[in-house]
Amino acid sequence: MKPIRSALRGLGACAALLLVVAGANARPFDDIKKDGKIIVATEGQFAPFNYFQGAKLTGFEIDVAEAMAAKMGVTIEWKALSFDALLAGLRQDRWDMVIASHGITEERAKAVTFTDPHYCSGGVIISKDPAIKSAKDLTGKVVSVQTGTTYLENVKKLAGVKEMKNFPQDTDARAALATGRVDAWVTDRFVAKTALEANPGLGLKMGDFLFVERIASAVAKGNTSVAGEVNKALAAIQADGSYATISKKWFGEDIRCKAPA
Ligand code: ARG
Repeated sequence: MKPIRSALRGLGACAALLLVVAGANARPFDDIKKDGKIIVATEGQFAPFNYFQGAKLTGFEIDVAEAMAAKMGVTIEWKALSFDALLAGLRQDRWDMVIASHGITEERAKAVTFTDPHYCSGGVIISKDPAIKSAKDLTGKVVSVQTGTTYLENVKKLAGVKEMKNFPQDTDARAALATGRVDAWVTDRFVAKTALEANPGLGLKMGDFLFVERIASAVAKGNTSVAGEVNKALAAIQADGSYATISKKWFGEDIRCKAPA
C-alpha cells in the first residue's frame, strides 16, 4: 500500500510541476492559429515603444508585433494594462504574449519564457544638472524610476543614492524630474531621447548608460510553440527589410541587437 501511495504522490507532484512549467494552460500556437488571433498585452505609456496617440495604440513595438503577426498568419487583439500586470497575466493565461520593452533578466526568466530580443538598449541617467551624468554622480541624490523595471533594480544596486522614488508609470518618473522633485531619472535611452526632443524647454540632459540590456517579448513559461513562432517571425522581418524600415521610421536607425544572443 505504502509504495503505491508514495508513487501516486510522486506522480501528483510531477503533474503539478508540469502544469506550472507549461504555464497552467497556455494556448499552444496551433490553437492560436486555428482561432486566427493572438492576444498581445502591452502598457501603452512608454513612448516611442508602446503608447497612445489619442485612443490609438502605437509605437515601435506595436509595428514590430503587427509585422510579426502578419508573418505568423494571425491578427492581434491588443490589451493595454499597467506595466506590473503584464508578466503576471501570462501565468494566468489572460493573454498569449507581452511586448512592453522588458529587459531579459534571470529573475523574470524564472517566471516567463522570453523570445529572442527585438532591440538592444539600456538605462540612462537624465538630469537637469549637467554635473549629474554617471553612476557616481548619483551619490547623495534622489532618483526617480518606474516601479517593476530594470531601472529600479539597477539604481537599487548603487550604494550612495540618497533616495529612490518609484512611480507606476515612467511618464510620472519623468514628471518628477521635470518639476524638480528628484535630481535624476533613469529610463530607456530611446525613451529619454524622445522625451528630450519633444520637450526641449524642460532643460533635461542625457547622461551615461547605467547598464545595457536586451529587450524581448515574453510568453507563458514553457510555451515553446508560441516562442518558436515569434522567433521565426522576428528573424523573417529582420531578414526581409521590414524590421529595418520600422526601426528607421521610429529612430532613424536600426536598433536590433548587433551581437548574437
Ligand atoms: N526596460 C525596462 C525593464 O525591462 C523598462 C520597461 C518599461 N516598459 C514599459 N512599457 N513601461 O524593466
